Amino acid sequence: MTEHDIEQLISRMTLAEKLGQMTQVQPHGRDQEERVRQGGAGSLINVVGDDAYHYQWLAVEHSRLGIPLLLGRDVIHGFQTVFPIPLGQAAAFDPERVRQAAAHSAREAGAAGVNWTFSPMLDVARDPRWGRIAESFGEDPLLISRLGVAMVQGYQQEGVAACAKHFVGYGAAEGGRDYSATDLAPRALLDTYLPPFLAAQQAGVMTVMSAFNDLDGVPATGHEDLIRGTLKNRWGFDGLVVSDWCSVTEMIAHGFCEDAAAAARAGVSAGVDMEMASTSYLDHIAGLIEQGLLDIALVDDAVRRILRIKARLGLFQHPYGDPGRTQPQRPVATQLARSLARDSCVLLKNEQGLPLGEHARRVAVIGPMADAPGEQLGCWVFDGERQHSQTVFAALQERLGAQRVVHARGLEHCRSHDLDGLEAAVALARSAEVVVLCLGEDAGLSGEAHCRAHLDLPGAQQTLLEAVAATGVPVVLVIMAGRPLVLGPVLPHAQAVLYAWHPGSQGGPAIVDLLCGESPSGRLPVSFPRSVGQIPIFYNHKNTGRPPHPDAPSIPSGTPLDPSGFFAAYLDEDHRPLFPFGFGLGYTRFEYRDLQLSASQLTPGGTLCASVLLSNAGHRSATEVVQLYVRDLVGSVTRPVRELKDFQRISLQPGESQRVSFELHTDALRFHDRHLRQVCESGRFELWIGPDSASGPSAVFELMASQA
Ligand code: BGC
Repeated sequence: MTEHDIEQLISRMTLAEKLGQMTQVQPHGRDQEERVRQGGAGSLINVVGDDAYHYQWLAVEHSRLGIPLLLGRDVIHGFQTVFPIPLGQAAAFDPERVRQAAAHSAREAGAAGVNWTFSPMLDVARDPRWGRIAESFGEDPLLISRLGVAMVQGYQQEGVAACAKHFVGYGAAEGGRDYSATDLAPRALLDTYLPPFLAAQQAGVMTVMSAFNDLDGVPATGHEDLIRGTLKNRWGFDGLVVSDWCSVTEMIAHGFCEDAAAAARAGVSAGVDMEMASTSYLDHIAGLIEQGLLDIALVDDAVRRILRIKARLGLFQHPYGDPGRTQPQRPVATQLARSLARDSCVLLKNEQGLPLGEHARRVAVIGPMADAPGEQLGCWVFDGERQHSQTVFAALQERLGAQRVVHARGLEHCRSHDLDGLEAAVALARSAEVVVLCLGEDAGLSGEAHCRAHLDLPGAQQTLLEAVAATGVPVVLVIMAGRPLVLGPVLPHAQAVLYAWHPGSQGGPAIVDLLCGESPSGRLPVSFPRSVGQIPIFYNHKNTGRPPHPDAPSIPSGTPLDPSGFFAAYLDEDHRPLFPFGFGLGYTRFEYRDLQLSASQLTPGGTLCASVLLSNAGHRSATEVVQLYVRDLVGSVTRPVRELKDFQRISLQPGESQRVSFELHTDALRFHDRHLRQVCESGRFELWIGPDSASGPSAVFELMASQA
């Protein structure tokens, strides 16, 4: 179907049919069947399987123009096979595997009639109180961009439209409370919050979702400058923009629109082509046009975009899905889910205990997350098959034999304060040589509208941890959670700590692979705070005029507060995170030596080659995530203390060394200046190649002024 065909089709449509295309509803029985027959819906949300085929058939065979439906579903980190939550996937620092997982999810969802997913979420998430941090790729714009592009490619290569959401600024909600207002300066938007969306647009994402939040006084769904101006006109996005769930009519509660008619007008004017869930477009646009308050050209533009995406998906030829598409293969998905879950786990501490030696003849697997197949899947798993979810307890029994592995929950669930099971758990711990204690958050503690003000272990889990630790039996703590938790009180009670996020269907086998010898290679995609009072805390902050000394000591508890230092720090807490962005241990030791730059000076348009000699100085083969950071030392506006510019996963055998090289193009050094122009400014830059955002050898290079 060509653009010309689309114009022809539009010319045959009644206004009611156009408004139908601009409406996405959740079907509830007969009314909606009739609506679809009448051409009153361009898209349905949350219909899968037979229902999806049924509605598609009604639209194609029984509506006047036979326009196929977009059938949308939140396929966020898997469909039947559940991969780790996006925050966990981000920890693997592996775009290719993220692409493969998305492709697989699209095959499963496509087989169930779904042709549109509301993923990836590209919100920059710097606040772990925000429940939706689980759905994000963390705090770094470059990592989010790379993984977002990979997800878009994965879904769309299999005929499912991706949706970059939430446009824009949603992750910066005040106080980490979902739906709250955001107040982002234009430069923060341009340099931090918009780049992942631009990357997705350049990768051909078919759809974008407008956000719920108020952005400096304008609800994102009514933000004409950003949606029509930046996204559509400046960037040239020619796909469709869908609102978030009722976010058009929520502009009334925001105090931005008087009533539903005004909301419809604001949404369409801003460039929101399709309304999700609410029906103000359907109900009011005709009246608005009649009164001369809305130009029909805007309606036609919206309809054109919607039809264009349907055409791009091939729905006019194959409304029920391309008959030649790849079928999902469960064994392949299972392997992928296991490898992604394995490489998303971050080892935070390992004093002893890991890997479990052959000597561990009796292992006690304790805790509410040890055998909770549903909870380990995490948020947004409408279609996830709990019956195929394998837990740590089950997987460890399978690996070591049922006689060697014993289990007690200790607490019925993560939020429980009922200590009835404590004694039995402690007795079981005593009977073992090592305890694998699985704690964390159940799935319902993160995700949309699931924010927390306290980030400690919920319920009585800290009590359980301390009671088990008091036995003196070594504790390997596995934490499954949808966000960074505050781990200060936890660390002293465990010999080893493995952070597994919500690892998905294959969480158990993946974690057991690591417990039994494969070296963890996940790295933190977010900074871990020491206390809630440090939030927001992120590595790519500004230096300030009073930076604390980089090695300023933490403030040991009990030390009298010292008011003599006037620095950007706390009196009663270390200013540094507990674990920095990019951090993660393995079962070996990597050394970084001999950082080399291909030149000490370069000019705009040039490329610098930076390399380091990486050695595996330990006794086990392992994978390192080698990270390249840059700091622009002086700019016409202040610049972050470090910014991630590239990364590579490198696997080395014990004793092996490899020179790891990166190409850094000067485009990667651009930012928005005082006049909000994108510039690449001359001056000195510091460059690091290291294992995380707080260490690694560095060198300085200079960007010369352009010759022209
Ligand atoms: C969420 C979106 C989601 C939509 C549809 C909204 O509440 O914010 O991310 O895609 O619902 O389920």
